[in-house]
Amino acid sequence: MTVKLVAALDQGTTSTRCMLFDRQGRMVSIAQREHQQYYPHPGWVEHDAAEIWSIVRRIIPQALADAGVGAAEVVALGVTNQRETAVLWNRHTGVPVGRAIVWQDTRTTDVLADLATRIDPARVLARTGLPMANYFSAAKLRWMLDRNPAAAAAAAAGDLLFGTIDSWITWNLSGGPGRDGGGPGVHVTDVTNASRTMLMNLDTLDWDPELLAATAIPRAVLPEIRPTIGVVARTVDPVPGIAIGALIGDQQASLFGQTAFEAGEAKCTFGTGSFLLLNTGPEVIRSSHGLITTVAHKVAGEPAVYALEGSVAQAGGLVQWCRDNLGLIRSPAEIETLARSVPDNGGCYLVPAFSGLFAPYWDNMAQGVLVGLTSYVTKAHIARAVLEATAWQTHDVVDAMNADAGVAARSLAVDGGMTSDNLLMQTIADVLDIPVVRPMMAETVALGAAYAAGLAVGYWSDRQVLRRFWRKAGEWQPSMTAARREVELARWKHAVAAAQLWGQ
Ligand code: G3P
Repeated sequence: MTVKLVAALDQGTTSTRCMLFDRQGRMVSIAQREHQQYYPHPGWVEHDAAEIWSIVRRIIPQALADAGVGAAEVVALGVTNQRETAVLWNRHTGVPVGRAIVWQDTRTTDVLADLATRIDPARVLARTGLPMANYFSAAKLRWMLDRNPAAAAAAAAGDLLFGTIDSWITWNLSGGPGRDGGGPGVHVTDVTNASRTMLMNLDTLDWDPELLAATAIPRAVLPEIRPTIGVVARTVDPVPGIAIGALIGDQQASLFGQTAFEAGEAKCTFGTGSFLLLNTGPEVIRSSHGLITTVAHKVAGEPAVYALEGSVAQAGGLVQWCRDNLGLIRSPAEIETLARSVPDNGGCYLVPAFSGLFAPYWDNMAQGVLVGLTSYVTKAHIARAVLEATAWQTHDVVDAMNADAGVAARSLAVDGGMTSDNLLMQTIADVLDIPVVRPMMAETVALGAAYAAGLAVGYWSDRQVLRRFWRKAGEWQPSMTAARREVELARWKHAVAAAQLWGQ
């Protein structure tokens, strides 16, 4: 009997992976490659969309070859991606207009201030579920068009296409400008990715005319918004004939991969940033405590499922910064070893507000600070402060989630690369004062995209089948005294206040 597999393409902030999964949700092969990060000015973060596409072209055939299968054995491909990152490209040539502006980029503060004179931020929040922050795509696209009058004219004439990374990859996978005599690729996105642009109306699930008018973004440049689960096209390049069964933002994908299908189920993923999502079911729930409202997923022909999200910009990204910018460690795994060499943080606290502060503060101006330094402090204490920064930021979004929900979470389901750091997981359990639970399969982003694509083509009959694949791999119990937690929390809050003050 021929083996049938489902593929996931996970285009993240620092790397791109293609994984193949079998019917039991087990990973069969993985091909991965990092791409270049560009930091041309303080606060600017860029990617080369052409480089990302060339990596996609290499790793899909590689993952298939490693699994020993051809395209005919792959029933569907799910595309999942870093969200909000903005790409603008020429529909005739497929060449990007400048570099992609990454979700972490803070260059658009002035664009947002100008926008606030044309539309009330409260109205934007009501329509999109989002505060007016640098994080989201609309201001990035406006910045590209403002800086490049030729591009603005070409966009208005319909010669340029805009998209988040899912759109860019799907357009290329499905034919790009028209390859080998085939027609052009499909220009689409899905509701989860569109909900991060600050241009989609959460109720209609379509581009909002008032927001398009306020941002002066031509509708012709935008992709068509599709459901998350449902075949959008077949691949043409680099391997022809695979059904693209799902497009889904990476954090929504990990919610799906954790099989958090029901309202009330949540997860927190620790990748470049960290993202806590609570499934709220078919209702659009508004946060009163600094969380954003987003689309969790939508099956074609069914109502959308929504989520509340606590987005944190720096988690694993801070560890990479310690490696790449400070030379504090040689590999991300070393941060735990270094941090474990001391019993505590020695009095120092680090607030990594490199992109301002996201949830629950939403402060575009905040800047990173390292406070509490004395001659006693060593690099090991700083390593500890690095891990604690992720734990306390998680605390702040869980606190907001509890306040919005009106009940306290009883445990936290976690996933992502940083969950292999046992000290971090223990610290999170300590500061939250609840158990932290990790599934066997920590790569839930790719798994969720595979689940979504597999469901689209009937590879799995329904979601309940998928729940059976979830297995617990680890659990951390809180062990910090309440008195200590209170003191540490007060110090962390002081450090956050310092980061906000410094940016003013
Ligand atoms: O919203 C940004 C997020 O999608 C990035 O995810 O995993 O690349 O940190 P990740």
